[in-house]
Amino acid sequence: MPRTVALLVGSLRKESFTRKVANAIVEIAAPGLDLHPLEIGHLPLYNQDLDTGSPPPEWQWFREQVRAADAVLFATPEYNRSVPGVLKNAIDVASRPYGKNAWAGKPAAIVSVSPGAIGGFGANHHLRQSLVFLDMPCMQQPEMYIGGADNLFDKESKLTNDRVRELLKKFVTAFGQWIELHPARALKAA
Ligand code: FNR
Repeated sequence: MPRTVALLVGSLRKESFTRKVANAIVEIAAPGLDLHPLEIGHLPLYNQDLDTGSPPPEWQWFREQVRAADAVLFATPEYNRSVPGVLKNAIDVASRPYGKNAWAGKPAAIVSVSPGAIGGFGANHHLRQSLVFLDMPCMQQPEMYIGGADNLFDKESKLTNDRVRELLKKFVTAFGQWIELHPARALKAA
């Protein structure tokens, strides 16, 4: 049975390198992995006060989408050695209200992307810290830091670097195996 993977991209930029890498992964992934982008740019900023009565409909929609996924793939740029606020906001939204963490038990993987040489290492590992708290089994290996991202795509946003394509293939194949080893647990407090 195909596994549904929610794909979160931590950049809202039209020509985002991170989104281009995410799109390349979607193309490369085996048919058994149904990767679908889960948009996060429209989510209101998390405010605990709004979670007491009826929360914003965008939050409810997003939480349902996360719950419905078998797994989550995070594709993130690096902002100031961490994840962009838009991605952190999405993470916070689906982690609440208290006791209803929609991420819990979902197998996850991270790819970080930067034009810089260290491939968003800081963002990648900051994100891992949150995933520990969210109780998401996050794939350890292969790690995926995509550096020099401004030199990987042609004018049609197609990946032109075969070495990176091979790395992404290994990464997404390993993630498919990781998902089978760590099937999403039923929510503890759904
Ligand atoms: C950046 N950028 C950046 N790059 C990096 O390698 N490490 C960093 O800490 C930062 N910090 C940072 C902060 C802010 C606010 C911005 C706007 C940018 C550069 C960043 O990698 C570059 O803009 C990428 O193109 C962003 O990813 P997308 O939008 O192309 O996916």
